[in-house]
Amino acid sequence: MFFRKKNKSQEKKINKLYKQEFNSIGLEDLLHYVKLETGIDLFLKKSIIETRLKLFCKDKEIYSFSDLLGLVKCKNDLKQEIINLLTVNETYFFREERQLQEAVNFAISRDKSVSILCAPCASGEEVYSLSMMLSEQTDLSNKFTITGVDINSEAITKAKRGLYTKRSLHKLNENVKNRYFTYKDDMYQIKSEHFLHVNFRKVNIFEDSFTSIGSFDIIFSRNMFIYFDNTTRLIAMQRFSKLLKRDGRLLLGHADIVPQNEWLTKVGFGSSAYYSHPRTN
Ligand SMILES: C[S@@+](CC[C@H](N)C(=O)[O-])C[C@H]1O[C@@H](n2cnc3c(N)ncnc32)[C@H](O)[C@@H]1O
Repeated sequence: MFFRKKNKSQEKKINKLYKQEFNSIGLEDLLHYVKLETGIDLFLKKSIIETRLKLFCKDKEIYSFSDLLGLVKCKNDLKQEIINLLTVNETYFFREERQLQEAVNFAISRDKSVSILCAPCASGEEVYSLSMMLSEQTDLSNKFTITGVDINSEAITKAKRGLYTKRSLHKLNENVKNRYFTYKDDMYQIKSEHFLHVNFRKVNIFEDSFTSIGSFDIIFSRNMFIYFDNTTRLIAMQRFSKLLKRDGRLLLGHADIVPQNEWLTKVGFGSSAYYSHPRTN
């Protein structure tokens, strides 16, 4: 899902669709609310988001952003719909494979059962990729659990279902496809018997419940920090530090830049880079 630029014909279409005139007042307040609740900073994409939200309002017969905000604050279903509309869930199997392999090597070196968190997991491809790679290691095949969480409820439903298009699998070779998927009607269905150690939950990382989700040897948080500003990134780092075991590792995406902070320190660079608790000696 990518944001497209608003053009004149889209604007005309929106105006035509409204019998009652739409009042754009309240957009800033709505974006502030989304940022406060999810961490996602949409101010730089304001005009694109405005078009998308106007079409959403038209569908629901809501005539201003202020009305929308009022409704979102008291209706959880509507709030979830807005979150689903505004989050970018782009992902695919074996994305940044070298980094996944680094995590598998670290898991092997632990010589014990390994717990992994993918936050966010979007529609599950990262979780299933890690699970496939870990299962191929005979020493580890039964000694790991992977929890995938995401704020987008549609993405989590898709992750649990495990049904994917060819596009999501473009990096997989035929052997891997045959071993882990069933092909039918141009779609690939995960063979669930291979993925007994994975689970998915709809969770916002800024919710209270997130910090009691467990304690992890490895945390992946790839391609989410890019949607946050620096203040929110630091809050997220503090929250992740509470879930990471003392000798565990947090792995971010290559584009996820985080300011220096007291909770987790960067070690190494490139695909081998990770964050860990600062040494106390
Ligand atoms: C681009 S996807 C990244 C998926 C995967 N980690 C990858 O790199 O391929 C970004 C995801 O972050 C999720 N997200 C954004 N804010 C979140 C939050 N506060 N809590 C949980 N998930 C969030 C979005 O719903 C979206 O699915």
